[in-house]
Amino acid sequence: MNSDNDLQIAGDILEVPHLLQPPREHPATVAEFAGLARSIAADRAQWAHLVRYDATTRWYHRLRTGPGYEVWLLSWVPGQGSGRHDHGRSSGVLTVLEGTLTERTERGTHALSAGAQRVFAPGYVHEVVNDALEPAVSLHVYYPGLTEMPMHTSPHCEARDKARDKAHDEAHGEAHGGARPVTA
Ligand SMILES: [Fe+2]
Repeated sequence: MNSDNDLQIAGDILEVPHLLQPPREHPATVAEFAGLARSIAADRAQWAHLVRYDATTRWYHRLRTGPGYEVWLLSWVPGQGSGRHDHGRSSGVLTVLEGTLTERTERGTHALSAGAQRVFAPGYVHEVVNDALEPAVSLHVYYPGLTEMPMHTSPHCEARDKARDKAHDEAHGEAHGGARPVTA
């Protein structure tokens, strides 16, 4: 008589930890990056005390890094904007934490209020500006980490503008204490 069954052969899976899929420590999909951003957004203790507002230059702070990705905190006083840009070879998730930001793309203009998210792939071109009367705060996840942010002034002369703005960014990056471009 054979009384074995699968459970007896394999044992109870709950007692065999190496057979269980461990929860991922770091996000690895677009949905997980968006989820990471939402979880940080919901936990103000992780970011609210770090926020500074600077009327003279864009303020940004690297909140967290992980394998291949970076999380940045940005503030926007009324009137501050990113200029029209892409994100090099990075994909990203933009999440508004406080206030309202306006995003302009070739498809139109959208008001992004607290909790709104934008997911973008390499090559996505947009401009983000605080058109409101109150300061705004946003969270940006980049995968891989942002290494360049080519500026676009006109759809008709991007190549020329990229070359010019690369030189501009490098010069200003040094002036701001590092080669890293302002994030947005
Ligand atoms: Fe951006």
